Amino acid sequence: MIPEIKPYLHFKEFKTQFQKINNPIEQFEASFSEFSGFPYALYFSWARSGLAHLLSAMGLKNQKIITPAYTCEVVPQGIAWSGNRPYFIDNTANNINMDNDLLLKHSGSDTPVAILTSLFGRKHNPDIIVQKLKDKGILVIKDVSLAFGVKHNGIPVSNYADVAMYSTNAGKPVSSYGGGFLTFKDMALYEKVKAHRNNNAFPPKFKSIFLRQLSFNLQYIAFQKWIYGMVVYLKDNTKIIDIFVKQNEEDLSIPKQHYEIPAKFQAKIGLVQLKRFEKMDYNRKALANFYEKEINKSEIINTVPFNEDDSLSHFHIRVKKGKREIFKKHLLKNSIYFGIHFDYSNPDLLMFKDYKSPDAPNSRVWAEEMVTIPFYPGLSKSNAHRVVEVINKFKIIE
Ligand SMILES: Cc1ncc(COP(=O)(O)O)c(C=O)c1O
Repeated sequence: MIPEIKPYLHFKEFKTQFQKINNPIEQFEASFSEFSGFPYALYFSWARSGLAHLLSAMGLKNQKIITPAYTCEVVPQGIAWSGNRPYFIDNTANNINMDNDLLLKHSGSDTPVAILTSLFGRKHNPDIIVQKLKDKGILVIKDVSLAFGVKHNGIPVSNYADVAMYSTNAGKPVSSYGGGFLTFKDMALYEKVKAHRNNNAFPPKFKSIFLRQLSFNLQYIAFQKWIYGMVVYLKDNTKIIDIFVKQNEEDLSIPKQHYEIPAKFQAKIGLVQLKRFEKMDYNRKALANFYEKEINKSEIINTVPFNEDDSLSHFHIRVKKGKREIFKKHLLKNSIYFGIHFDYSNPDLLMFKDYKSPDAPNSRVWAEEMVTIPFYPGLSKSNAHRVVEVINKFKIIE
């Protein structure tokens, strides 16, 4: 079997938890600021948590905050936690990121903040649009949670924004096994958000650290070759694994973890992972180019366009509406695991029903057509060939 995603964790990540490192959280923030090219960085329990702290620290309440209709649901959740209103903007039929015409049309003096996302590592081109938003007095956040290395003219796209947002949770391009960052250009804003975080957050309790660290170590063990098959069996046939991977993402109540600063062991893992980023990004790029070249496109199956500036976190097959279920069955029958990121358009989710936004029909179509196939830096050549072979056979049995 070939998993959809596999953390790029080595013995160094395992070992570092037990090593003495002075002020790992401060060190991780310093390394992250250097990595992002912004002078200031703050580490939070999640990226969405950082977003909520930022909006609250800016003194915003019940304000319209622009965010893509097609993105992870936790982003609008973070907006709602701060007492503000997510305002969803559709993407286009052919571009996975926000439609810039709609974005401009709907942003004005009633919009203090806009979140521009480079979804799954595909660049949301910052040319012109970012300046136009800034001219309107809008604070621009670049959400690069799934796009750590995405560039524009050789410069990280995040650098075009006022604030950049990165998630470092388990499935992200760099993982600290939970946690997320905001990076800032402006010292005054950084100081405000830092004070807000420090006044409201608290260090994690012993029990919380213990459970998180246990979960990290179980994951580390689970992804070793010799045990992975058993984990997949347990996942498919029991509810044991759900205990560790299930998150409370169904409602807008604020969980306790929002107020917790990540544990030191997480920062230590993050420091090791950050050093691996270039290698991981290089491997992902090579794999994306291989898939793009080798996967046969048809009426039913397509890939999602990307270019050399992009820094993909996932590789998607776009399966024509109505055909996704049989495609999924075909993959499973051949022991290829997949994911559906994301199978919803945010404005259609029940928890966001009270937030009025323009209709987002394109986002709905993307949500119905996407399938993520195995894509991670450690995927072997033979497994990558196997994935292609199985996908290319789909047409024949159709
Ligand atoms: C595009 C995007 N932005 C932001 C986030 C938020 O990350 P976190 O889980 O750290 O809050 C995610 C999480 O999956 C995401 O996919």
